[in-house]
Amino acid sequence: MDPIVQKAPKTSPLPTPVQLIEKTRDGVELKKDEVRALVRGLLSGELADYQMSAWLMAAYLNGLSDAEMVALTEAMLHSGEVLSMKSVRGAKIDKHSTGGVGDKVSLPLAPLVAAAGLFVPMISGRGLGHTGGTLDKLEAIPGYNTQLDKAQFEKIVSKVGCAIIGQTPRIAPADKKIYALRDVTGTVACRQLIVASILSKKLAAGLDGLVLDVKVGRGAFMVDKKSATALARSLVETSTALGTPATALLTNMDTPLGVTIGNALEVRESIEILKNEGPKDSRELTLRLGAEMLLMAGLAPSRAAAEKKLRDLLASGHALERFARMVEAQGGDPRIVDDLNRLPKAPHRSVLFAQQKGYVVDIEPRGLAEAALRLGAGRLRAEDRVEPSVGLELLVRPGDEVEKGTPLARIHARSASAARAQAELVRRSFSIARRPPQNITPLVLGTITGKGRPS
Ligand code: URA
Repeated sequence: MDPIVQKAPKTSPLPTPVQLIEKTRDGVELKKDEVRALVRGLLSGELADYQMSAWLMAAYLNGLSDAEMVALTEAMLHSGEVLSMKSVRGAKIDKHSTGGVGDKVSLPLAPLVAAAGLFVPMISGRGLGHTGGTLDKLEAIPGYNTQLDKAQFEKIVSKVGCAIIGQTPRIAPADKKIYALRDVTGTVACRQLIVASILSKKLAAGLDGLVLDVKVGRGAFMVDKKSATALARSLVETSTALGTPATALLTNMDTPLGVTIGNALEVRESIEILKNEGPKDSRELTLRLGAEMLLMAGLAPSRAAAEKKLRDLLASGHALERFARMVEAQGGDPRIVDDLNRLPKAPHRSVLFAQQKGYVVDIEPRGLAEAALRLGAGRLRAEDRVEPSVGLELLVRPGDEVEKGTPLARIHARSASAARAQAELVRRSFSIARRPPQNITPLVLGTITGKGRPS
C-alpha cells in the first residue's frame, strides 16, 4: 500500500474571527489579508458586531502597528466605491480638518482654490461631539443639497471646480459600521482607528493630494501637541503609503477660530472671508491651507507666491463668484452672497457685556461649543435636528482691551429663555484681567511633510 503523503497547503487558512480577536488582544500583529478578512467579515455578517466591538477594544488598548493601520485603511477604503473622476482634467486636491470650534474654513477654501485652478471633490462630515460639521453649515443655505450621487458630484467638480457632499452609503461602508460601533463602545479616541476612518472616506474621492489641518488645543480632539503630532504623522504616512501625497499643518485650537459658532452664522463669516473681509485668523488660515494645496499641485513656485495668488482671488471677487456657482450647482440660493439676510435668522438675540475693565486674556472654546450645541447648533442625540440659525458671535478677541459694559458676545437663540439658559456658560468662557496676555499662541504650530518630520 502506498504511504499517504500529506502535502502542506500552500497557504495556511485564515484564522477564525475569534482567533483574530485573540491575536490583537495578545499584541500579535495581523497580516494584511487577516485585516482584510476582518473588514470583509464585518460587511458580510460572518463577523458579528459584538466580535468587531471586541476587536476594536483590543485595538484601542494595544494600539495597531503602522502596517496594520495602513492595511485597515486600505480595506475600509475598498469596502466601497473609489471614484475615478476621469472627466476632471486637473489636480484633485482636498483638505481635511480634524475638527474644532468655529472652524468653517472648508466653505471659503474649496471655491478659493478652485478659482486658482484646482479641483476639490470634498466629502465632508456632520458635527461630531463638540465640533461643528461642514455639512450642517452648508445646509443652513436655503436649498443646498449635500446628498448628491457620484455622477452629479463628478459633473459639478468638473464644471465648477469644487463640490462639497456627504458620505454616500457606497463610500467606505465599513467605516460607517465601524464608526457606529466605536461610538457606543468607548473606542473613538484611538489614533490608528481615527486615521483609518478619516482616510477611508477622504481617499474615496480619488485624490491626487491631501492637506490635513490637525487641530491642537482645548477645542480639539487632540489637546496636546505630542498627540496631535503623532496623529498628523500617522495621517500623512498612511495617505502617502496608499499613493496619495499628504501634508499636515498643526494649527491652534486653544481658542475658537474666527468670530462665529453656529451654522448660518458661520456661512456668513465664510462669505465675509470670500469678500476679503472677516476675522484675520480664519481668513489667514484659509489662505495658508490654500497655499499648501496649490504648492502640492505645482500651481505656485513658493508659499509666498501661492498666498499672493489667493489674496488676489479674494480681492478680485473671483473666489466669491466660485462659491456662488458651487451653491447654485448644488441646489442652493446663490443670492445669499449679495444678501446675507437670506440666511436663516434666529428669532431672539441678546448681548453679554464685560463686568469689569481690563484685557481679554482668554476665550475658552469648549464652554462656547457646549453653549452653541445646547442652543441647537449641534446634536445632543444622533436623531436631533440641527437649528441652522442659532449660535454665538464673539464681539472681542484675545488681547482686546475692554471697559465695564463692553459687549463680549451675542447669543442667537430660539427664545429669550433659551438664550438665558446658556448665558452663564458663555460669560464664564471669557477671562478678563488687568494686564494684557503675555503670549498669544500662533495660528500654525508646525508642518508635517511626507517624510513625517515636522518643519
Ligand atoms: N472623524 C472621522 O471621520 N473619524 C474619526 O474616527 C474621527 C474623526
